[in-house]
Amino acid sequence: MTDINIETAKQNLEKKGFLDLDIDVNLDLFSEIERLKKEKNAIILAHYYQEPDIQDVADFIGDSLALAQKAASTDADIIVFAGVHFMAETAKILNPDKKVLLPDLKAGCSLADSAPADAFKKFKDQYPDHLVITYINCSAGMKALSDIICTSSNAETIINSLPKEQKIIFAPDKNLGAYLIKKTGRDMVLWNGSCVVHEIFSLEKITKLKMHHPNAKLIAHPECEDPILKVADYIGSTSGLLKYSLENPATEFIVATESGIIHQMQLKSPSKTFIPAPPDNMCACNDCPYMKLNTLEKLYLCMEYEEPEIVMDEQLRIASKRPIERMLEISRQYGL
Ligand code: 13P
Ligand code: SF4
Repeated sequence: MTDINIETAKQNLEKKGFLDLDIDVNLDLFSEIERLKKEKNAIILAHYYQEPDIQDVADFIGDSLALAQKAASTDADIIVFAGVHFMAETAKILNPDKKVLLPDLKAGCSLADSAPADAFKKFKDQYPDHLVITYINCSAGMKALSDIICTSSNAETIINSLPKEQKIIFAPDKNLGAYLIKKTGRDMVLWNGSCVVHEIFSLEKITKLKMHHPNAKLIAHPECEDPILKVADYIGSTSGLLKYSLENPATEFIVATESGIIHQMQLKSPSKTFIPAPPDNMCACNDCPYMKLNTLEKLYLCMEYEEPEIVMDEQLRIASKRPIERMLEISRQYGL
């Protein structure tokens, strides 16, 4: 995400004289957003980590792969991306002629920030015979340096689709990378990045919680650290976790990922209990500080004023599109 972009958007918003607090409290934001969708032929794509109100008003809710696939196929004129910057940027890379809006341009990602493109270029140059598989949680600059993009839903399939002797660099998430090394048996070179949300879970507190809920299933996202994954009953992407919670006969689940997903779990299985896995600090929540920058108010404002908009350098867009298309193509081949 470029600071210039944020600054420009901020100045434009200020020029237009609106802030979060400017909204008339009597306005029914849900019906206003529905009106704007129709008037502007806009689609709202939301990640499972968004706040419940945003999920409820979205046209499509999904994990990173499903959202990229939906962005690639929509015929809406405006894509409103209720997620973080790399997700909206991916939608823009795939849709240069559409307007792509992100309710808060500061909605970044610690994982994406942990891999600056220039530092990664130096790292990659040390392994000239390696293919680069990069998790979608990264900047367009990182994508442009990659051979194939992946998400937590398709990473294993993508790695297994490559010849056994193919040497691989996996970036930027070291936890997902270590998990994939175990699953695929490939000896991949890993970049040392991680997610702030998935690194805070406490094994000690989870173990205690399990003692109080002996029949609860521990379900974890593969961005979690190895000690958590070792004791998990199921490991999967956000859509995988949701599907497991729906199909598994257990009635209690300890959920080791961002707490936003619990909204959909609860809607799909109202009689089941979902307990957020306890983090290793005094905070009781597992909220992603970036995902939760988006609010219903900001969603309304960005649709009304069509800002902040994702704007990209065309050369960078073209360079970062190739590995995303490769991911979409492999996913299609394997029915994902
Ligand atoms: P998935 O939606 O692919 O499970 O990824 C979760 C995540 O961390 C998104 O930022
Ligand atoms: Fe990034 Fe982690 Fe937030 Fe996902 S949950 S957007 S990986 S910081």
